[in-house]
Amino acid sequence: MTSHPRDEERRWWKEAVVYQIYPRSFKDSDGDGVGDIPGIIEKADYLADLGVDCIWLNPVYESPNADNGYDIADYRAIMDEFGTMDDWEQLRDELHKRDIKLIMDLVVNHTSDEHAWFLNSRASTDNEFREYYWWREGRDPEETDLDPEVYDTPDDVNEVPPNDWESFFGGPAWSYDEDSGEWYLHLFDRKQPDLNWENEAVRDEVFEMMEWWLQKGIDGFRMDVINLISKPEGLPDTDPENDIETIDRAVNGPNVHDYLGEMRERVLEPDFLSVGEMIGAPMPMETARQYVTPGPEGDGLSMIFHFEHVLVDRGDDALELTEWTLPDLKAIFDRWQDGLAEAGWNSLYFNNHDQPRQVSRYGNDSEYRRESAKLLATLLHTLRGTPYIYQGEELGMTNYPFESLDDFRDVATLNPIRSALEAGEIESFEAVKDRARAMSRDNARTPMQWDDSEYAGFTDPDSTPWIDVNPNKETINVEAERADQNSVWHYYRDLISLRKEHDVIVYGDYDPLTPGHESLWAYTRTLGDDSLLVVLNFSDDETQFESPEDLKGANAEILISNYEADVSDVADAVLRPWEARVYDLR
Ligand code: GLC
Repeated sequence: MTSHPRDEERRWWKEAVVYQIYPRSFKDSDGDGVGDIPGIIEKADYLADLGVDCIWLNPVYESPNADNGYDIADYRAIMDEFGTMDDWEQLRDELHKRDIKLIMDLVVNHTSDEHAWFLNSRASTDNEFREYYWWREGRDPEETDLDPEVYDTPDDVNEVPPNDWESFFGGPAWSYDEDSGEWYLHLFDRKQPDLNWENEAVRDEVFEMMEWWLQKGIDGFRMDVINLISKPEGLPDTDPENDIETIDRAVNGPNVHDYLGEMRERVLEPDFLSVGEMIGAPMPMETARQYVTPGPEGDGLSMIFHFEHVLVDRGDDALELTEWTLPDLKAIFDRWQDGLAEAGWNSLYFNNHDQPRQVSRYGNDSEYRRESAKLLATLLHTLRGTPYIYQGEELGMTNYPFESLDDFRDVATLNPIRSALEAGEIESFEAVKDRARAMSRDNARTPMQWDDSEYAGFTDPDSTPWIDVNPNKETINVEAERADQNSVWHYYRDLISLRKEHDVIVYGDYDPLTPGHESLWAYTRTLGDDSLLVVLNFSDDETQFESPEDLKGANAEILISNYEADVSDVADAVLRPWEARVYDLR
């Protein structure tokens, strides 16, 4: 049984609740329809009232916005639409004044094609910046299975790319450059060329830039697709016969641990929160442990965002949906809770700016919206790890009722649908509408709902938001929920404050009780003499929980629940639809 953590095992970022802000959609202060940094400053008290400990700010750097800021043109400048460096400094100070830390998004697998490095790199084949990116000659189509028709090259160029990799946003991962007659690699949009980390000069630039931000007083980084930075030797083609796709080629490359080790030595400290986004799934647990084991044995990241639970309902291609089951979901979480029990630390999330809204996906966003939003929150805030709240999640915000392709803004939705339409693979948007609605990243990007006014208080009524406001802002909004003691918002606030009072929530061992059950997820958390029992009913029906013998008759008190519950006996409890109970078993 784990006892209370020794001081050296404690970290602020283990005890923290992180709140993610997608600035474009949070709060617009100047009426241009786009959220901005002064807007976030206006809401600093809101964040403090909710009780969160740290903000993760999505990219606010100068960017042409091919991918909403994930295509950075200048790492040391703030995007005009979002404000100025003075605004950013004020935000940092306003947060710190309220004891809220701030971590920045670090996007260094790629830059924008409008970054000075890439503009230089593109200008000639022999200058120092050429080696900052992945430039290669094309191949003779005869020597490959690739169809030259598919690629966007001038008519007199009969070439196919250096390999057959596909962009994660659809289409080829290489674009042809007419001036130099070579191709450059971009695992995402063509406006996001991949940096060549093999080049020491690139690593120096990145580490200096990180240091520059740390000197400005930030508390860490969220590292965008950081497990893509090392590419495999020789950039080999995929191998469909052996089920090896682009993603398998691209993730966790041969030098990734060396690069991160160098980063740890040169810029990171254990007290910074460093959370690495790790795409591709499943990830071998050994690899995961290497990322999150403190240095010098490991890479020393605080934690990672893996993707296994957010791929549970996806098929092979980006827009394919499959059924998910609770036992599958539990198996994923159990594997990670167990895998990082001794070494490393977990992050806990269902939502972010890339995922549909959790209550629409894993809960029931109609009849039991409130109950299921609270149940999902209970889960994320009582597993072992650091919970991340994505803006609006604390209101139980839902997916958006998208009707046509024009409603979408996201490249990751638009690119593949447009290519499928162009290639005649689908006849119209209707063919993929259901999937796009369920899965688009735009679900998470509709404006934060502050009140029930025209644009939900996100922007001026006489302006136009960059993406539509969800019509359910009439009832789901901050103002209404703060006024209602039973709201999802108050429940989040209670969960956040419970974490501060109970070490067992942060540091306790996790033991699952119902791994195979179709609709119940029950587990205990134990730290010394402290013990919690969590029981969650993931269904629209009443479900009986048969408690293990040793818990029957235990002296239990409800710590938090999403229903009125006055139950002290945990034996054979009948849980109502989407009921969540946390018992203190002391
Ligand atoms: C990450 C970001 C996502 C972005 C992509 C490319 O997955 O979270 O929003 O599109 O990386 O930078």
